[in-house]
Amino acid sequence: MVASPRKPYSLSDWQLGYQASAQEGAAWLDVIAGSVPNDLVGTLWRNGPGRLEINGNRYGHPFDGDGFIQALSFTGEGVHWRGRYVQTPELQAELAAGKILYRGVFGTQKPGGMLANLLDFRFKNPANTNVIYHGGKLLALWEASSPYWLDPETLATLGRLEISQNPQQPFTAHPRLDPASGDLIAFGVRTGLGSTLHTYRIRPNGEIVTGPAHQVPGFCFLHDFVITPRYQIYFQNPVSFNPLPFALGMQSAGTCIQVDPKAPTRIWIFDEQGQRQVLETAPGFIFHHVNAYEADATTVIVDSIYYDDYLGLEPGQDFLAIDFEDLPAGHLCRFSLDLAAGTVTKTELSDRACEFPAINPNYVGQAHRYVYLGAADERPANAPLQAIAKFDTHTHTSQLHTFAPRGFLAGDPVFVSRPAEAAEDDGWLLVLILNTETERNELVILDAVTLAHQATVALPDIVPYGLHGSFTAGFVAAVER
Ligand code: CO
Repeated sequence: MVASPRKPYSLSDWQLGYQASAQEGAAWLDVIAGSVPNDLVGTLWRNGPGRLEINGNRYGHPFDGDGFIQALSFTGEGVHWRGRYVQTPELQAELAAGKILYRGVFGTQKPGGMLANLLDFRFKNPANTNVIYHGGKLLALWEASSPYWLDPETLATLGRLEISQNPQQPFTAHPRLDPASGDLIAFGVRTGLGSTLHTYRIRPNGEIVTGPAHQVPGFCFLHDFVITPRYQIYFQNPVSFNPLPFALGMQSAGTCIQVDPKAPTRIWIFDEQGQRQVLETAPGFIFHHVNAYEADATTVIVDSIYYDDYLGLEPGQDFLAIDFEDLPAGHLCRFSLDLAAGTVTKTELSDRACEFPAINPNYVGQAHRYVYLGAADERPANAPLQAIAKFDTHTHTSQLHTFAPRGFLAGDPVFVSRPAEAAEDDGWLLVLILNTETERNELVILDAVTLAHQATVALPDIVPYGLHGSFTAGFVAAVER
């Protein structure tokens, strides 16, 4: 008998992160190890699917879960937590009805099978992917519709922020904050046989400015993009969408997507004057880019998390029973775009499975050296994210801080630069984990130079695994003393 190889985690531990809905509340938190740096002052915002079922009817995919916002305020005296759902009309209607009324994009069907879902194109906007405080508004983002606008003090939902004349206009969950202008630069995609990329910027005063709209042939699944001082760059993964099973109600949209292994990835490069160039590279799938920069007049570097194939679920597959080793792993890759020759060189920088990249946000669009990643504990097998890796793109070496075997990342790491930072990596990483030993979420602060542990703060309970977050330096919501 061959013993199965030891894994650095147990699947039943991992499943704990999806077992219960998030509970709303507010509390001062206990620092259970180390100490919170005095000069870390501001608010960490986090978003993710807080509710994955209605009355025991589970959603088909965690990406369909209802957005739950957490605010962790570092006041200089302590850490205060507040958690609240985005009160979308769809969630309110479903809670009132006690059943699933809407299809989810990724895997959720209404009960009742094919007939109940036939030609039903109404999606729920779960507002569950990212949260950013910009232009005086706290925005809960989901890429296929407009943001929800929340009160940053109380997290109360104030309404939907309409981005254009068209209600529910798509708006990416990954806008990029341009450090030079302070503008939040964003796009939104309307897609079908052909696609339109609408572009926007939100000024620091909250004014929404509409930029050019780009027509692109073919279906686009664009979760992220990158910016440099001169360019906006989009990777059009060669995915095809077969709308028939979706329209007929047999499958949800997210299970109708496939990567075409014979088609190239198209890299669209738009400049401010409306000029465009398209380059081609190997097929694959990218959710997240790290950053891009102009290395010289005709060379652009893009670092991304690259997959050989789309990370899709089979129709009807139970997401709690997934085998991580059967899924394609994301790897940190560097794309060097030669705009003069029209060629692309792709280099894998690390064979460690990873996702959720972060850099110092002051380096967006500029040459970065360090990349922080949610990572598997062991290379090269695919596994849940249990560690933080720091990759040095100059020396091609990495450091690791692991939470294995019982800790799991509960969202992306967020880099916070130290006030008056002395170097690119002079700051902290704020990492929310699920500790399955204590059965609660914990916020861990790491030194971003050494990845040394600085502090651990205990949260009241378990919130399901989240997605993205951001930090607003200096903003602290009014909290009870
Ligand atoms: Co994302």
